[in-house]
Amino acid sequence: MDIQWICAVTTILAWFCTGSSGHQTSVEPPRNLQIIDPGLLGHLCIEWQPPPSLLTLDQCTIKYKLKYRSTGDADWKVVFTKKLKYGVGFDLSKRTEAKVQTLLEGRCTNESEVKSDWTHATFQLPSQGDLESQIRDLHCVYYDWEHLTCTWQLGRLAPPGARYEFYYWYEGLDHAVQCDDYRQTHGRNTGCNLQNLRQAEYTDFNVCVNGSSESTWLRPSYFTFHLQNLVKPSPPEKLSVSISASEEVHVEWSPPAGGTPPHCLDYESVSTQVETAFTFSQSNRSHVACVRVRGKTNVFCADKGFWSEWTRECFYVSRKDEKQLFLLIAVVLSFLTIVIIFILAAQRKKRTNGEKNRSPTSLYLE
Ligand SMILES: *[C@@H]1O[C@H](CO)[C@@H](O)[C@H](O)[C@H]1NC(C)=O
Ligand SMILES: *[C@@H]1O[C@H](CO)[C@@H](O)[C@H](O)[C@H]1NC(C)=O
Ligand SMILES: *[C@@H]1O[C@H](CO)[C@@H](O)[C@H](O)[C@H]1NC(C)=O
Repeated sequence: MDIQWICAVTTILAWFCTGSSGHQTSVEPPRNLQIIDPGLLGHLCIEWQPPPSLLTLDQCTIKYKLKYRSTGDADWKVVFTKKLKYGVGFDLSKRTEAKVQTLLEGRCTNESEVKSDWTHATFQLPSQGDLESQIRDLHCVYYDWEHLTCTWQLGRLAPPGARYEFYYWYEGLDHAVQCDDYRQTHGRNTGCNLQNLRQAEYTDFNVCVNGSSESTWLRPSYFTFHLQNLVKPSPPEKLSVSISASEEVHVEWSPPAGGTPPHCLDYESVSTQVETAFTFSQSNRSHVACVRVRGKTNVFCADKGFWSEWTRECFYVSRKDEKQLFLLIAVVLSFLTIVIIFILAAQRKKRTNGEKNRSPTSLYLE
């Protein structure tokens, strides 16, 4: 093609694009949008390149508006960035969609914002293995902020000889790591223990449980959670109960030793009467009450957590109705005493009166 002709067309196009005023009124979308899986069990990289015609625009700022979601999500997540890539976590068992557009603003657009069309991309892992071979009921607990234990049930249709494997990744590891301390049931992996995960708190913790048998692949399962939301603390320690002279019960305890930060705990305390649970060889003047205390991560440290086990301390208290009975007896006794005193006093008075006007008649009457 004739080079002069191309130049002419380009000039005319540029004139159209920038408008007669010399201001940019349109911009091209980014190129080569890609969603890349670096093998981090759900952390995907969304990348693109700038539109080709932006080389001469030094008076304008170029930004990108990125939207992404998984199939089934109602809403798109939106990000504005000047960079050309963005990393974010997805559920790899779903399809991922992303779209990006160029935003131009500055002197070259007379300070108004110019937007391009959208560029789209999708990503989905090739599906592998029978759906029924997938593990079930993954359950993870982060004990005392120290060690993580995850357990699962085998797939409903796990082929004979199926071997399940647990992989995990969090920001700071350069690749997914396999569990090195499996829990087993009948020789099959059904759980994993992990330690030293301080660095993995407050960030995405990605897990994949996949596997294979001699004949086939097993369907992998993907999970993303935050460790601080899975904490189960140890029960509180040194629970002690004291009863003051005014019969007020004072309960005291210490936070559990171990990795749980004391400021991260909320406590719950209940007292129960367990009269029927014990028999006593001594007199039954008192009965038994128990105080139970347990702890859980509070809202300052996590969105949720598991309750610790209960700590229990029992003590004797005197029974209320016994006290009332005692009071009643005291009242009745004092009343009787007064009555007797009156009777005695009356008799004595009578006797002195009798002695004063003693007569044969009265003598006779006595
Ligand atoms: C640029 O924008 C200003 C204010 O919005 C407006 O008054 C002016 O006419 C614009 N210039 C051109 C060349 O469009
Ligand atoms: C399971 O996932 C890990 C991490 O992505 C991968 O290295 C491994 O090859 C997978 N195993 C199977 C059997 O698919
Ligand atoms: C104390 O209570 C228990 C259970 O109610 C009863 O079996 C026992 O005989 C009582 N002992 C006395 C001394 O009253």
